[in-house]
Amino acid sequence: MAATIMNGNGNAHKEPTVCVTGAAGFMASWLVKRLLDKGYTVHATVRDPDTKAKVHHLLDIPGAAERLKLFRAELSEDGSFDAAVAGCLGVFHVATPTEFAPKDHENDMIKPAIDGTLNVLRACTKAKTVKRVVVTSSAATTSINQSAEQNQYIDESCWTDVDFLRTVKPPTWSYLVSKTLAEQAALQYGKEQELDVVTIIPVLNVGPSITPSVPSSVQLALCLLTGNPYMLPGLKGMQLISGSVSLVHVDDVCSAQIFLMENPSAQGRYICSPINTSVPQLAKYLSKRYPQYNVPTEFEDVPEIPKVNISSKKLVESGFSFKFGIDGIFDDAVEYLKTKGLLN
Ligand SMILES: NC(=O)c1ccc[n+]([C@@H]2O[C@H](COP(=O)([O-])OP(=O)(O)OC[C@H]3O[C@@H](n4cnc5c(N)ncnc54)[C@H](OP(=O)(O)O)[C@@H]3O)[C@@H](O)[C@H]2O)c1
Repeated sequence: MAATIMNGNGNAHKEPTVCVTGAAGFMASWLVKRLLDKGYTVHATVRDPDTKAKVHHLLDIPGAAERLKLFRAELSEDGSFDAAVAGCLGVFHVATPTEFAPKDHENDMIKPAIDGTLNVLRACTKAKTVKRVVVTSSAATTSINQSAEQNQYIDESCWTDVDFLRTVKPPTWSYLVSKTLAEQAALQYGKEQELDVVTIIPVLNVGPSITPSVPSSVQLALCLLTGNPYMLPGLKGMQLISGSVSLVHVDDVCSAQIFLMENPSAQGRYICSPINTSVPQLAKYLSKRYPQYNVPTEFEDVPEIPKVNISSKKLVESGFSFKFGIDGIFDDAVEYLKTKGLLN
């Protein structure tokens, strides 16, 4: 589904219209920016289109005045996405509850993620114009298990053990369960209803953001540089629960989302994970690259070697190439945090 704007004779084609759910968030707002830049017309769903403070970063994107339309939509409301999806050729479903410590894990996190995904997919079936849906999942759906085996190779055949999460209840457990069950529900719906559903499975997103506040995933990934004491336990926890600290530039995630939308032969799940590391390895790298920050490098409570290796082999063999390695990921994020006053 290429965004052809003009044909060889200089005649204008109608640009494809796509929908992005959860558009005000970190990843989705960057995706909207990339789509507008490519010439797409975008129907963006937000929860609160009338509050300027929540949507001005979308309205300020070049091309927004001509080709961006905001729709109010709520994951838990049946039919809420119908108007935004109507007439679209493709849908990027990105919205999900990300309040990591909800009061009610089932009703505030797990249920809205699954119901909301099905709500979006039903809107696609009703619309009759949608050729593909790219559902954004998470590497949290692949690598969490009870096995003590080291150096596990994680590909698209791997699923997180939801029963283990529900029993042990590690921090953020209901988010991890919600993403796993929502992705499974999306793939099953696609099969049963003959809707072309592809899932993308990114690891921790790092990079700049156009959102009004600094995304928590960027703060988490850069906590060894900023020294944020509340974030370091989270980064260690991520390695201990998921088996690694795996990182990707947000711009590469959006490129991969668009690649999967435009590539006719895309099918099933796609892991998006160029960098696989651990807290101690990352700390050593960061202290060398940015000696001006006081990066701690001694850790006794997290293993040096990651337990899992989350592989993007399928995505890369389909023709996708990552633009950013670890230097580019961190250089961009450091510059971004400087503009926000979180690093000197
Ligand atoms: N960031 C990462 O490192 C990372 C890694 C892997 C996967 N992911 C996945 O990528 C997607 C985007 O993540 P993000 O980091 O960009 O998160 P984010 O900034 O918190 O964005 C989440 C979006 O979902 C919307 N949302 C939440 N609950 C909703 C509801 N009940 N109804 C309608 N919309 C709702 C939010 O709307 P409001 O703006 O109104 O709050 C927000 O725009 C998620 O699916 C996440 O699981 C993220």
